[in-house]
Amino acid sequence: MKIIHVVGARPNFMKVAPVMAALEGRAGVSQRLVHTGQHYDANMSEVFFRQLGIPTPDINLEVGSSSHAVQTAQIMMRFEEVALKEKPDRVLVYGDINSTMASAVVCAKLGIPVDHVEAGLRSFDRGMPEEINRMITDRLADLLFTPSPDGDENLLKEGVPAERIHRIGNVMIDTLKRLLPKAERPDIHGLDEPYALVTLHRPSNVDDRETLLRIMDTLTRLSEDLRIIFPIHPRTRKRLADLDATPDSPNLVLQEPLGYLQFLALQRDATLLITDSGGIQEETTWLGIPCLTVRENTERPVTITQGTNILIGTDMDLLEQEAGKILTGNGKKGTIPDLWDGRAGERIADVLTSI
Ligand code: UD1
Repeated sequence: MKIIHVVGARPNFMKVAPVMAALEGRAGVSQRLVHTGQHYDANMSEVFFRQLGIPTPDINLEVGSSSHAVQTAQIMMRFEEVALKEKPDRVLVYGDINSTMASAVVCAKLGIPVDHVEAGLRSFDRGMPEEINRMITDRLADLLFTPSPDGDENLLKEGVPAERIHRIGNVMIDTLKRLLPKAERPDIHGLDEPYALVTLHRPSNVDDRETLLRIMDTLTRLSEDLRIIFPIHPRTRKRLADLDATPDSPNLVLQEPLGYLQFLALQRDATLLITDSGGIQEETTWLGIPCLTVRENTERPVTITQGTNILIGTDMDLLEQEAGKILTGNGKKGTIPDLWDGRAGERIADVLTSI
């Protein structure tokens, strides 16, 4: 069985690593790795391959950044050529980015079975590009690997036959568990005192000038009580540059994006996270660190029902209020969801080698 894995952006890399590792050495399996090049900066891509021990991609489509339609179309055009030449038996796609959806459409049209890792998640918010990617990918997927029971329920409601759905757990947690002992703090001053770790990159938060200004004002105010470490995504970096009012507080540390091992150490030791990332909602739940999510909804509801996550929306008063609770030791406590145990990649390999 020849399998092609397709990845494209930062949150894909921690998901493909355990699946490739689990399939390595299974009888009759050969693997190829395709990077679409959706993310291309060394600190958004290469550093993750090195730290996670992912093989160098066999093929890089080098699509880079552009509008949704152009990026999606370029991935489709370039991946179609690869699929026709390589003739894989199956293609595995990960998460909810444009690369995921574009390569799933190519496979569906060529009649190549495509399997979706992290299937079934729904925010029910079509204003998010990722929600469109999830819906289309799941509609076309042959096997749907879900991380939590809500994923199964969503897919069943959409008419996906039960035998195609496999709840295997959370592959990203496989990587987190494996690499936590190797996590290493970056060289940032003041990490021995309590700090909040911040990430923001959703278009709904950073592309709108007023929204971004309000968020930055709140972070500046919070930094009077607590050091804030903010590694900045390239999208956000550009938007901040457009504001022409760089926040000025010695306690608000703006930082280049960090490697996986450095960011993991910062999460592990943080007093709280403030984020709009999907993956960080899950990682903080597993680590037991309180997480305030600057979004109106989440496609990862178990992080709220079982984990440490609280949805803040864009209510900056609520953000300050909840941060205050955490600082006085009254943050939300949680439990680890079922099957977030470090063995999800092995379960995927078991399913694939038994079909
Ligand atoms: C993409 C995904 C999003 C995911 C995020 C993780 C889609 C629709 N979005 O969003 O789901 O949460 O990745 O990071 O697939 N840029 C660089 N260097 C890079 C990559 C991007 O400078 O290596 C800049 C470019 O200006 C680009 C912008 O960041 O235009 C946005 O990049 P893009 O890949 O379009 O979307 P993300 O916001 O990264």
